[in-house]
This record gives sequence, structure tokens and C-alpha cells, in this order.
Amino acid sequence: MVNTSKRTLDVTLFGQKYFSPLIQAPIGVQSIFNAEGEKGLAEVCSRLSIPYVLSTAGSNTIEEVASASNDGLRWFQLYWPSDDDITISLLRRARQSKFSVLVVTLDTWSAGWRPLDLDQGYLPLLNGIGTQIGFSDPVFRQKFKQMHKKEVEQDIPLASREWVKLILSDSPQPWERLSFLKKHWDGPIVAKGIQHPEDAKKAVQVGFDGIIVSNHGGRQLDGAVGSLTMLPSILDAVGTGTPVLFDSGLRTGADILKALCLGAHAVLIGRPTIYGYAAAGKDGAEEVIMGLLADLDRSMSMTGITGFGESHRSAIMPRPS
Ligand SMILES: Cc1cc2nc3c(=O)[nH]c(=O)nc-3n(C[C@H](O)[C@H](O)[C@H](O)COP(=O)(O)O)c2cc1C
Repeated sequence: MVNTSKRTLDVTLFGQKYFSPLIQAPIGVQSIFNAEGEKGLAEVCSRLSIPYVLSTAGSNTIEEVASASNDGLRWFQLYWPSDDDITISLLRRARQSKFSVLVVTLDTWSAGWRPLDLDQGYLPLLNGIGTQIGFSDPVFRQKFKQMHKKEVEQDIPLASREWVKLILSDSPQPWERLSFLKKHWDGPIVAKGIQHPEDAKKAVQVGFDGIIVSNHGGRQLDGAVGSLTMLPSILDAVGTGTPVLFDSGLRTGADILKALCLGAHAVLIGRPTIYGYAAAGKDGAEEVIMGLLADLDRSMSMTGITGFGESHRSAIMPRPS
């Protein structure tokens, strides 16, 4: 008999109010799902007031996506290049294009072993698809020309390999190097891909403004622990004061509600929107987002929850050990 007739999906992140806890996860190479690529999905997210996270592996440029997103909320995901000049250039472009939050992916310093893709030789990034952020970068272009005495467009396979070597370099940056990013980015910086309480504590200690608990959708390390399993202990380790976001495996409003009840401050949605986008273009993506929001809202009503300002962990039954 709790009055849930007035519900709000609002959340506050980094001092800013967001109309819902949903964020579009960074998904690389969106042109393989729809010819409009990142631009189409960014446009949908902008229309629905959902923050859009642009992947470094975008098939449109930073500037094109900013223009499609118009006055929408947009965050930039960094696959941290091994070349500092190029990193600085990417950050400068993202800031100039009004991307407000930097998401640094820490779980993928090299690509995972994917037998299905390897069997079929399916690696779009090595064929100039999903490399557009690099290919449009003035510093990358200049260095490529200096090294190979030709333009990127004259040898796409070589330029692709050079770009992929930079962003999936297999050389993790040490924690202390967050100071370098902070020097070149004046907004919040979020660590994506945290799966262990000790890493979460370290991320906060070195100065990340938020973390995303994620196992990359289980797409990189085979057999990685489920992210939801780790969420409570990571929240306990981090304590209050640092936003903890969550992704990997959320498919329904009830799924989202469980993550929020456990204590996540917001959630990222990856494949559901992409499936909608691939199946039915912008209308399909919009349908998925609207459905998730409606489902979340209805699930709140079912659970007796009117908002996310306070903890609802007691609404979740612990898993019997
Ligand atoms: C096709 C595909 C491409 C992805 N590309 C990126 C990427 O470029 N950068 C990144 O940080 N995460 C990437 N991810 C991971 C997502 O951001 C997210 O962590 C993951 O999909 C979990 O959410 P989901 O279960 O809702 O899909 C990708 C995921 C998919 C499915």
C-alpha cells in the first residue's frame, strides 16, 4: 500500500541531473549495424535525452557525431592510445565538440581472442571500418605521412593496422598516468571495466571521478565473472561519494531496477539498442529505449519504488549461498 503513483527516473551524476539512469554504452563500428553509423544512434539518444557514449572505434568522426547529436548529452570513450600526442589530439577534439565526460576503458588493452571472427577473417577495424576517428585525426595523419611517405587514403590496410596498434596496443598505462589525462581533460573521468573491489578502490584513490562495473558484455575475457555478481562488493569498497555505474547483461526494466536497487547510480545499455538499430534503424533503437524506460518505470511501481535518491538494497533477496 505504498503510494507509487508519482515516480521519477531522475538521477544525479557528477553534479548534473539526468532525466533517467539509462546511458547508451560505447559500441564500436556502428556502421556494421546501420549505414548511418554512430550518427543515427547519437541522433536518437539526443532526441530521447539519453547520454550517448561515442567509442574511439567509431565509424564516424568525433565532429560528425557531435553534429548529429546536436545539443544532446554526449560522452567520449577512450581506448587510450600509446602515443601521447595522439591522445592529446583526441581529447582536444572531443572537448571542442562538447563531449562532457571521458570514459576510459581499462579492460581491453588488446582485443580478446574470438575464434568465430578469426575463422571468418572478420576484422572490420583492419579494413578501415571503425577507424574514422583515427583517420580524421590531424596528428595521426601527420605521423602516418611522416613514417610511410603517403596519405592514409593511399594505403587503408596499413593505416588501419597502425591505428589499431595505437589504440589496442597491449601496453596498459599505469594507474599513476591518470594525471596525464586530467591535465588534458577538464571534465569528469570515469574508469570503465572495473570487476574487482581492489581495482575500484585504486581507481578512486588515483582520482577517477566515477567507475563503470562492466565485463565488456563478456566479449573479451572468456569466463570472466558476471558483473552483477561483483557489483555489491565493489559498491561496498567504494563507499559513498563516487558514482558507480553498471553495464553487462541488462535486457529488461527489471534487470535495470535490480542493478539500481543494489546501488548502481546509473546503467549503460549496449546490445539491446544496437539490436533494435540493426533490425529497424533509428525507429528500432528508439523503440528499444522507450520500451526499457517504460519497463523500468512499471517495474518501480511493482516494487514500491518511487525514485533512486535512497538505497533500495533491501528490495533485493540475497542469493542463497
Ligand atoms: C559490438 C560491441 C562493440 C563494443 N565496442 C566497445 C567499445 O568500442 N568500447 C567500449 O568501451 N566498450 C565496447 N563494448 C562494450 C559495451 O560498451 C558494454 O560494456 C557491453 O556491451 C555490455 O553491455 P550489454 O550487455 O548491454 O551489451 C562493445 C560491445 C559490443 C556488443
